[in-house]
Amino acid sequence: MQHIDIKEIFGNQELLNNNVTVCGWVRTARDSKNVAFIELNDGTSLKHLQIVIEKDSGIQLEQCLKLGTALKVEGKLVPSANNIVEINASSIEVLGTAPADYPLQKKRHTLEFLRTMPHLRLRTNTFNAVFRVRSVMAAAIHEFFQSKNFVYVNPPLITGSDCEGAGEMFQVTTIGYQDGKYESAEDYYADDFFGKKAGLSVSAQLEGETAALAMGKIYTFGPSFRAENSNTPKHLAEFWHVEPEVAFAELPDVIALAEEMVKFVIGRVLEKCPQEMQFFDKFMENGLIDRLTKLISEDFGTITYTEAIELLKKADVDFQYPVEWGCDLQTEHERYISEKIFNKAVFVTNYPKEIKSFYMKQNADGKTVAAVDLLVPGVGEIIGGSEREADYDKLLEAMKVRNMPLDPYADYLDLRKYGSVPHGGFGLGFERLIMYVTGMANIRDVVLYPRTVNNIR
Ligand code: 4AD
Repeated sequence: MQHIDIKEIFGNQELLNNNVTVCGWVRTARDSKNVAFIELNDGTSLKHLQIVIEKDSGIQLEQCLKLGTALKVEGKLVPSANNIVEINASSIEVLGTAPADYPLQKKRHTLEFLRTMPHLRLRTNTFNAVFRVRSVMAAAIHEFFQSKNFVYVNPPLITGSDCEGAGEMFQVTTIGYQDGKYESAEDYYADDFFGKKAGLSVSAQLEGETAALAMGKIYTFGPSFRAENSNTPKHLAEFWHVEPEVAFAELPDVIALAEEMVKFVIGRVLEKCPQEMQFFDKFMENGLIDRLTKLISEDFGTITYTEAIELLKKADVDFQYPVEWGCDLQTEHERYISEKIFNKAVFVTNYPKEIKSFYMKQNADGKTVAAVDLLVPGVGEIIGGSEREADYDKLLEAMKVRNMPLDPYADYLDLRKYGSVPHGGFGLGFERLIMYVTGMANIRDVVLYPRTVNNIR
């Protein structure tokens, strides 16, 4: 269908005083004595294009003015007030009608209300802006890694090994458990599609390590799945995960890479999405642009877990979860560290080995591992990573201590037998970074169709 994107109309002086054709959905409409106005949006631009219809133009107005109607409009592009342009319509074709029960009749709806209609909420300014920023961020992720010689690899989503060992895998099965049919779980799995237990990947890291130990620097960017029973504003059962893995690298290299990547992606959004960011600054979080500009212009903080615990213990705050060396940091602790102690993004390093995954490099103190989490004000943890244990015997021991089955990890252990090198990487929760960048407070509002406990459609 021949037409011009509305975004192009705003950016192209040469189209002025020419006949153009645009398509889009009616966002608002106003009828007066001699003339009617429509604000049309085709999704390419946050800004709507005004269509002016003279009453004597012969255009049938009735259906055109109904919100949500899809139109094809032809007319002359002319200057209007405030340095903007509008179209004087010469003909309008109704491509799709929208009756009066079209749900988006009001100018502003609550995010909760819009969550009940994920298929229509994308036609609002908020979601239009969120998904435009999300797209720019995804492109920036690729641009960043590609420019630094990283190879983009696509790991399997169905896997036989649980990367985090936390038992949060969704099972993949074609038969389902049939009570009484099998003598043991092993018999049941043997009868299933893959002949053994399989699930959806919680992280591409294990496969990423095999690729990094061949290609040096790799990254993955795809969905991870977690059957966590966490009904919070920052957990999804299906989220997008950016996972770089680097050979010949130690913990400080992993930290430097994470800081550079976060700053690059935010810089690209500020540069490429000024209208969207002004929108978020106005409606979601006042001062957002200043906060992000400050973040990318200064060094991120760094603190060890042990130092963080000391400071949390001294804090004059009644935490819901008590703080002791060895405890996992809860969101309230993470936010205190990044918001009150540092007031900026901060890396927390060297956690107790008992609360972190089996694959992390064991430090010389015998108590901690070379782990790192990146905490940001408002959201908490957005990145988790580590240097990996490259020593076969130490890795095997860590797996045995956790009573892990060794068979599913045979390939992973092999990597430590054949040319093992210091290496490490991290996982960025893509939606969490989008929350931080847009000021959106709930992770369900930065993903097309959120999958959470008791919620799928
Ligand atoms: O800290 P996590 O569990 O680390 C890993 O999965 C490592 N294997 C990554 C690696 O080193 N390659 O998860 C990494 C990040 C978290 O910091 C968080 O941002 C995000 O993934 N994440 C979630 N995001 C949304 N919903 C969930 N349920 C998430 N679980 C983790």
